[in-house]
Amino acid sequence: MASFSLDRIPNNVDLSSDPRLQKALELWQPNFARWWQEMGPSGFQQDHIYLRTAVDVAPGGWAHFDFVRMPEYRWGIFLAPSQRDRVIGFGDNLGRPVWNEVPGELRKELRRIIVTQGDTEPASVEQQRQLGQTAPSLYDLRNLFQVNVEEGRHLWAMVYLLHRYFGRDGREEAEEMLVRHSGDADTPRLLEAFNKPIASWLDFFCFAMFADRDGKYQLAALAESGFDPLARSTQFMLTEEAHHLFVGETGIGRIVERTAELMVQDPSEDVTRCGGIPLDMIQRYVNEWFSTSLDLFGGEDSSNAARYFAAGLKGRYRECSDARYDDHVALESAYRLCAPGADGALHEMQIPMRRAMNAILRDSYADECRRAVERWNVHLRGRGIGFTLRLPSLAFNRRQGVFAGMLATPAGQPLVAAEFDRARDEFLPSSRDRAYVASLMVPVYEPGKIAGWIAPPRKGINGKPPELEYVRRASA
Ligand SMILES: [Fe+2]
Ligand SMILES: [Fe+2]
Repeated sequence: MASFSLDRIPNNVDLSSDPRLQKALELWQPNFARWWQEMGPSGFQQDHIYLRTAVDVAPGGWAHFDFVRMPEYRWGIFLAPSQRDRVIGFGDNLGRPVWNEVPGELRKELRRIIVTQGDTEPASVEQQRQLGQTAPSLYDLRNLFQVNVEEGRHLWAMVYLLHRYFGRDGREEAEEMLVRHSGDADTPRLLEAFNKPIASWLDFFCFAMFADRDGKYQLAALAESGFDPLARSTQFMLTEEAHHLFVGETGIGRIVERTAELMVQDPSEDVTRCGGIPLDMIQRYVNEWFSTSLDLFGGEDSSNAARYFAAGLKGRYRECSDARYDDHVALESAYRLCAPGADGALHEMQIPMRRAMNAILRDSYADECRRAVERWNVHLRGRGIGFTLRLPSLAFNRRQGVFAGMLATPAGQPLVAAEFDRARDEFLPSSRDRAYVASLMVPVYEPGKIAGWIAPPRKGINGKPPELEYVRRASA
């Protein structure tokens, strides 16, 4: 096990036994630190924040909690333990030993997969850069920074793979990770959802709920990979990712709770008059972020996805551990894909299973999102409120895949352009919605206090009380 307390870069990959690699990463480290200062959270860099740091990979003992200043956070490289005699679990190489070096013929594909995943990590930190200025509580402020530092560690995880396994090309790609910036006109981030600003805390919670959850499914698909270092790396990233999803789901859940509370207090009153976020407005944000996140899965019918699966690079969700897949070769079967036909209406067609791997991963994702939405609805029903939150149709507001460019209602009914334009503000956040939500974004930094548009958390972090001073302001 690693001597993480002594190494400049905490790790369990025996970095000190490879001085060239260690040197290369130590050269990248100051660039990362500069990027963090310039593009990471604006302000708060001198504050002491109650953060979790990964120090090991042993279940139960992997995290250390303490008050730290963000620039002093110890971003480390950790891979889940290797499994003896692990074999590739799917595709054409089914049953063959996993690779511990990059197979020459798959080098291009693997590099692309790692770069695409890696790029999203710093992107989200950049998108969330200003949110600390308007946090609804110190608890939420701490959670934001926890997510941010861990996305930083995920960048480290991918940069390690690039440096260790891709030579000069990998080092160049690692540099590029810090050159591209979210929303930059000349050098944007690679994926569209990572180039739009996360303007409010409602957007942040939706992002953590829907876009981070796409991240979970991508990581889970890569955790099945036949390239073992990638599988082990992403497997450990999933441990941290669970908290990000918790922040998203409970964040929206607490807004829903607060709105419900206001509605019950005064059923005749419009909740905006007492500073709540109306349920139909929350629904529009859900519509926007769920549809944007679906685009991250890529085309439903995809030859790339088929190639990645065939080669054993990227599997389905829990490919090797879930009983739902009895066929890990997936050459004989078909997937029923719903897509718009020439008449504009939706039709079902069959595509070869391997070409549908993006759609299959997305289906697992959408099921999980639906269960979370249902938990919010249970709360509304418990309060006797008739409103039901819903995930929009897969056909709604899409830019990628078979639905790209189709105009439809959130229920999936096709519309012509004029109809869509007329109804647009019922489907997606309007400029009025955004202005209203922005007006609520006022910082609350007193320990134990909470903004009026969100309910307090039920529990604190790591067994601490919710009212703990999770962020100790340097200036306070
Ligand atoms: Fe991440
Ligand atoms: Fe995340």
